[in-house]
Amino acid sequence: SPDAALQDTLLRWYDAHARDLPWRRTRDPYAVLVSEIMLQQTQVARVAPRFEAWLERWPDIHALAAATPADVLREWVGLGYNRRALRLRECAQVVARDGWPRDAAGLRGLPGVGPYTAAAVAAFAFGEVVAAVDVNHARVVSRVCALGDAPPRVLAARAQELVPPDRPDAWNHALMDLGATICRARSADCPACPVRAACASAGAVRFAPRPAAGRP
Ligand code: ADE
Repeated sequence: SPDAALQDTLLRWYDAHARDLPWRRTRDPYAVLVSEIMLQQTQVARVAPRFEAWLERWPDIHALAAATPADVLREWVGLGYNRRALRLRECAQVVARDGWPRDAAGLRGLPGVGPYTAAAVAAFAFGEVVAAVDVNHARVVSRVCALGDAPPRVLAARAQELVPPDRPDAWNHALMDLGATICRARSADCPACPVRAACASAGAVRFAPRPAAGRP
């Protein structure tokens, strides 16, 4: 089937070219949660050393649950949106008391954990067959499947359909990598794309004009 061909091709590319990121070497839900909260507002390269320092200081959910708000705020300096650090500590306290919710629906009930973060922890730590749809993931699926201006629920349903049941973690990471390195927002490098043969937009992606000089 066309979906199977897309899955196989992208996963083979991912196996050969995956970015080696520290949070991809663990299935510890605590470590995955810390990484995803940090990555919400800060770039991958800046998060990596802070992620490792955080885990050294608080190696597990119980250690973090015992930290003070002042401690977590000091360790968070420079990562932005301090409220995320405080919510992460609140999560630790809930999980230390009640244990981990085992699926995305349960994770969504934790402080500061929205649908994306819940799906990411479920896929990366628990192997749940669920699409963790961040902006990169959404853009790639929208282009590959030519979804155009389809409503969010249509995109979400298609993204969910595409998750290969045997490798949901690799699939979600692969889409992030493709979106970050090749199928970028303002410039898609279609000739270099591993899934161009399966992509409904290959070579036809049209881009918004570049921002004027001096604008971010
Ligand atoms: N951005 C958000 N989550 C990420 C992850 N797990 N890997 C790389 N970039 C990300």
